[in-house]
Amino acid sequence: MSFDAVDVIRTKRDKGELSDGQIDWVIDAYTRGAVADEQMSALAMAILLNGMNRREIARWTAAMIASGERMDFTKLSRPTADKHSTGGVGDKITLPLAPLVAACGVAVPQLSGRGLGHTGGTLDKLESIPGWRAALSNDELMHQLEEVGAVICAAGDGLAPADKKLYALRDVTGTVESIPLIASSIMSKKIAEGTGALVLDVKVGSGAFMKDFDDARELASTMVALGTDAGVKTVALITDMSVPLGLTAGNALEVRESVEVLAGGGPADVVELTLALAVEMLAAAGVTDVDPAEKLRDGTAMDAWRRMVAAQGGDPAASLPVAPEQHVVPAPASGMLSKLDALAVGVAAWRLGAGRARKEDPVSAVAGVELHAKPGDHVAEGQPLLTLHTDDPARFERALESLADAVEVSTSYEVKPLVIERIA
Ligand code: URA
Repeated sequence: MSFDAVDVIRTKRDKGELSDGQIDWVIDAYTRGAVADEQMSALAMAILLNGMNRREIARWTAAMIASGERMDFTKLSRPTADKHSTGGVGDKITLPLAPLVAACGVAVPQLSGRGLGHTGGTLDKLESIPGWRAALSNDELMHQLEEVGAVICAAGDGLAPADKKLYALRDVTGTVESIPLIASSIMSKKIAEGTGALVLDVKVGSGAFMKDFDDARELASTMVALGTDAGVKTVALITDMSVPLGLTAGNALEVRESVEVLAGGGPADVVELTLALAVEMLAAAGVTDVDPAEKLRDGTAMDAWRRMVAAQGGDPAASLPVAPEQHVVPAPASGMLSKLDALAVGVAAWRLGAGRARKEDPVSAVAGVELHAKPGDHVAEGQPLLTLHTDDPARFERALESLADAVEVSTSYEVKPLVIERIA
């Protein structure tokens, strides 16, 4: 059936409900180029302002899935589970998590994207490993999943092409910040990817997309409902992103820290979140008799990491690149570190070269920020608090500007839980 784009826009502009037929038609026609960018921009803005109900969001998601291919992992010899994070500063959790869950007997097909803005992309991090390549064919992906149990690779153009086009449009029309559009965008890709189970890490706080807890909860429950309705066992954890995760933000720096976690060490918060998500992924895939902490201790998660990196051409034993230029920021006073703002650290890492402003921009493997203390730690005035890493010393000034109000030292710090809420 054919509809008129202007009628569809008017329906949502006037706070009406889009019918299933209208949604199927507009997504398909937009993907084919029969609905123009300016018409889809107007519709996206009407949705941002007037919302969509659960039926509309589910249909919108299904229409975006139907715009491309859908992968099928049901022939693999083990169950599959994936994780998606809404993005945060220092969020390297996928790196230790995927091989850890594989070591526990569940296959992880992690089709990822590159970073845009102050949150880093998983592929950008892995590309700091000499030789590692992100692009795999569907056959290579399937083979690696069966043989190694974990794949982190670039999502091909065949998955939810409608979302690819629409997300790029939303990015330049001020229509990213709509919960129905974010939820359908993320879930269309994850459902099309074909995972049997999905754990969502919905971040909240200054360094996250969602600054407000109620918004994070609404996004999490919308995505859990979409996954469940599509037959994917879906669970969400809402986790704190007011402080960077771990002690590093930047591509090679984060790989180094992830390897420390796989070696049984690493910062406590990265270990805690990796294990919490692993337990959820295993349970969602029906595996409840394996302790992932044991797999970190006994080296089997590290073995899976080495096989996963090597299968994609990377040398897991190669030294990671190190920044030629470093600048130390000292603690401004003695006392307890009471604030280390995630957004400020993320913007600093980005300005040092770790992230990109436009999707065509290159990223630096070595750039980033290393933290020498976390909120709750005692610091002495003048001790190194942060080390900034870059290829280009001209970048220090703007990075330091972003850190101007990032740090506070006081006499106390209220410890916040890392995992704030679970939604199933
Ligand atoms: N990530 C996505 O994939 N889509 C959005 O809309 C927002 C974040």
